[in-house]
Order: sequence, then structure tokens, then C-alpha cells
Amino acid sequence: MCGIVGFAFRDSFEIKDSVKALKRLEYRGYDSFGYADNNGVVGKHVGEIAIDKVPALNTKIAITHTRWSTHGGVTEMNAHPHTDCSGKIAIVHNGIISNYREIREEMEKAGHAFKSQTDSEAIAHFFENKNIKDAAPEFFSKFQGEFAVLLVKKAEEKIYAFKRGSPLVLGIAPEGNILASDIYAFSDRTNRAVFFNEDEFAEITSEGFTFYSITDTTIPIEKEITVFSWKEGEELGEYPHYMIKEIKEIPRAASRLLLSLGGEQKPAVEKVVRMLKDAKRVIFVASGSSYHAALIGVQFLARAGMEARAVVASEFRSFMLLDENTVAVAVSQSGETMDVIEAMRGIKAKGVKIASLVNVPYSTVQRMSNAHLNIGAGQEVCVAATKTFINQVITMAYMASMLGYRADFASLNDCITKALLQEERIKEIAAELKDERDIYILGRGVCYPVAREIALKLKEIAYVHAEGMMAGELKHGTLALIEKGTPVICLMPKNDKDIVSSAEEVKARGAKVISFTSNGYDSEEGVKINATDAATFAIASAIVGQILTYYIAMGKGLPIDKPRNLAKSVTVK
Ligand code: M6R
Repeated sequence: MCGIVGFAFRDSFEIKDSVKALKRLEYRGYDSFGYADNNGVVGKHVGEIAIDKVPALNTKIAITHTRWSTHGGVTEMNAHPHTDCSGKIAIVHNGIISNYREIREEMEKAGHAFKSQTDSEAIAHFFENKNIKDAAPEFFSKFQGEFAVLLVKKAEEKIYAFKRGSPLVLGIAPEGNILASDIYAFSDRTNRAVFFNEDEFAEITSEGFTFYSITDTTIPIEKEITVFSWKEGEELGEYPHYMIKEIKEIPRAASRLLLSLGGEQKPAVEKVVRMLKDAKRVIFVASGSSYHAALIGVQFLARAGMEARAVVASEFRSFMLLDENTVAVAVSQSGETMDVIEAMRGIKAKGVKIASLVNVPYSTVQRMSNAHLNIGAGQEVCVAATKTFINQVITMAYMASMLGYRADFASLNDCITKALLQEERIKEIAAELKDERDIYILGRGVCYPVAREIALKLKEIAYVHAEGMMAGELKHGTLALIEKGTPVICLMPKNDKDIVSSAEEVKARGAKVISFTSNGYDSEEGVKINATDAATFAIASAIVGQILTYYIAMGKGLPIDKPRNLAKSVTVK
């Protein structure tokens, strides 16, 4: 993870300004931050980005970094930028150098003094006393793993940029050039960008940029300028947290998506659907909430008579069934999840076509795909996927509907609005559950992935140990954990009789059953879900689970938008 930003401007600016741009990437990591310029200034701080900690200094060249630690604890010393022994070179790095131990050992033997426990510091020492451009090819061959690196050298009016694996993009702004992990760092200043491809190296000044492929650093390569459009995330406004703001945006995001799938995205939808139709095997690949959306997609496609599977991206390596009759569908909000990208690399290497569902346009996943759909939820700031998960599910239902699945899109907005109107009832339940250590969520069919999704929300945001289960599996073991007062949320759509038996089974053993219900079961103990079919039930109950999580976390006074140890965009393996 981690976010990096570099400014090369014609006129001098305050270092604080570049740190403000970095703040826009804070969802990529927030345990420490730092900055350096080409005058030898280096500052590092533990904790979230605090602009007031940055000194009032001016410069024309600066690099900055917000960290999600991988190697070395959260300390000031381990925060980036890292410098070489002479202090003339400063670097920021996003990614992981997998062979850093060997490199560090070799450099220490050669007399370099390391100050941190990170994998990144070796990069600064490697370039010590070297001409950066001349040494770039050796850097790419010596350093293994993933990296997006920005480097400044004292007294040089440029930033050197290196990209392998981790995302890196150049923004062409009126003030000069901006390097960043993603477009959001500069989308308030410019909509013109140049995306780095793998194994590219660039020299960036305030006046221009020169890119090289690492196979030949003597001849610059042509780069295309992309003009992008990206809806800015609005300010928090009246809301105390982005999580609740983003949940409340669901009706708008969902309607916008449906309009766009039937409108400007129609040709893309038709292309993706054709790919699915022509395939013998459909494999979804995703992580976290996106994986849960993919599991729901599998069920929708099954109802349309199409066999599909969902594989967790980090486990994809062991998935062998890929051939020319397979289509892979990558699902990722950020489009930068390293596990997904790694899986896609393997898939592409086998010549398999990839369609993708992404939220952040121009992301790596999108650019690696043969066809893509944009879930159009707008920027999501809170680490928890809320509106983006819902829009992923809607997109899945939409694709399946083009293949014969009947989803009640006409009632969707009404179901969503009614779920949001349950807020007061959900708050009461949240107050009852606030001190629970374990919560079980039971669902069947389409509700099973929803149960897992609610459990994931409860774990990451409310710090509750939660387990989302297939209701039918309960009696095969987990039932042993149910005792007097154990909270069990049951997802109860209208026509599911068996979930009623599961609820009765846990109740008989003393569980406190909370039903999210369309069938009237114990509705006074739970939350009524207004749903007309499986898709609308899945969506409405997921929203109720999101609101419940939010209020449990509120009750516990937790840092809702930035939960401990996590980052929104997981750009490391
Ligand atoms: O950006 P992606 O959709 O690829 O992210 C995948 C997961 O990291 C993400 O869904 C994560 O599980 C969320 N924080 C869940 O709320």
C-alpha cells in the first residue's frame, strides 16, 4: 500500500502543499508520513498526515509518502523518505523489495550504514554516488519485487521515477508536473495524465518529462497523454464520518449506475456479456468485499443458467483450469489490489481474456482488461466498502439479467430507501450488540455471501469477531459455540423456509436471534427488509449490516473511517 506524491513546479511552493496532495491518498495507508525536497530537507512523523507538523519551507521539488508498514514497525525512523549515507539522495517507495535482505547485507559489507528496518532504504544507498539515469537499468535488474519509487538528489531540479508492479502516474498540471500513486492525488488540479507501464523509468522536471523503457535508457519512449474524467468526492458536510455519508449515497450511486449501464456503458455491457456467453468457463477473481460481490455474481449467473466460480485473488495461483475457453472477470473497487493484479498477470500469461468491474477509472486492473465496466459509485474514502459493494452487486445482477436472470430493478431504489429508513431501529440493535465479542450471521443462497460481507464489515470497522456462515452448515460444527445470549443474525428472505429452521435451532440453544427479515419471522426483534426478490434482499440486508456495523463502531468510539492496521487500497501481496 502506501501513497507517494512528487511535485516538480516552475514556481516555488510550500512543502505543505505537496503534503496536502498526499493527504488525498491517505486511504492507501496512514501509520506515518514524510517529505523531502532537493535542498536536503527531510521530515518524518508517526501517525496520520498532519499538515501542521510540516515546516513552512519553500521549494520547487518535493517528494512525499504516507505509509502502511510492511517491513519494520511504525516508527519515525522507518517512515519515508529514506536517505543514503551522504544525505544527498532521498527516496519514497510504495511496494515491497522481496530480496532486500541480500542487498542490504551486501551494502552493509560495503560500508553503508542503514538507519531503518525497512526494505526501502536499500534503494537510497544503491544510488549513492551514482549517476541516476546510468544506474537505473542495474537498479531494475538487482531489485526484485514491486516498486513505485520517487527519488530526489540534492541540488538537482528533477524527480526520478521508477515503476515495476506498483502503480505510478504523472499528472500534467498548470503549475508543473506531479507524480503520484493514483490520479486522485492531483485530480483537483488537472485531468491530464501519463500512466507508467511496467519497467519504465522517467526524469521529471517542472517543464517536461522523459520516459525510458528500462531495456534501453538511451532512447526516450513516446507516451500518450490521457484526459480523464473523475467525479470528485464531496466533502464530509453534515456527516461525522465518510462511512455513513457513503452509505447514505447508495440510492444516488445505484440510480446513476443503472442509468449508465443502460446508457453510455451499454456497448461495454454488451461486450462483457458477449465474452461471458462465448466462454465455457467464467472465473471471477477478487479480494475482500469484492470477492463477496463476486460470490453473489456466481449465484446470479447460475440462475441465468451459466456456470461460474469465484476465486480469492491471493489463492488464484493454485487455480489450474484456465484455457482459451475461459473468461476471467476481475472485480476490484480500487483497481489496484496487488493480489488481483498478480492473478491477472497469471491469467493473461495463459492468453485468457479478462473483463473487469472497477470503480476507480484508469486503474491498473481496468487498463489490464480486454473489456471493463465502471461501477460508477464515485469516490469512496472510508476503508470499508459500502456503496461500492452495493454497486458491484447491482452490476452483477445487471450482467446476469442480460443472460436471462430476472432481477427486479424497478423496485431496487424503493428497497434501498426503505433499508436506510430503518436507521433508528438499527441503532437500537447496535446499542444491544455493542459489547459482544462474537456475532454469527447466517444466510443461504445469495444471502450466504451477504452474511460473509456483514461479518467482514463487523470485523474491520467494529472490531467484533464475526462469522458469516451458510446456515445449513451450522449444525455440522459451529452450533457447538452457541450458548445463552450468543448473538446470531439471520438473513431471512421471503421464500426461504430452511433459514427459519436454522433460527429455531440456535434459539433452542439460547442464542439471541436478530432477524433481517422479509418473511415476518421475529420481525419485532430484528429489522424488516423490504425486498421483492433475491437481489433486492441481498442489497437491502447488506445495507442494514453496514449501518449496524457503523453504529456498533460509533458506540465503541472507534476510528471508523481509518480502522487500525488497514488501508483502503491494498497494493502489496
Ligand atoms: O479495491 P478492492 O475492491 O480490490 O479491495 C479489495 C479489498 O481490500 C476490500 O474489499 C476490503 O476487503 C474492504 N476494506 C472491505 O470493506
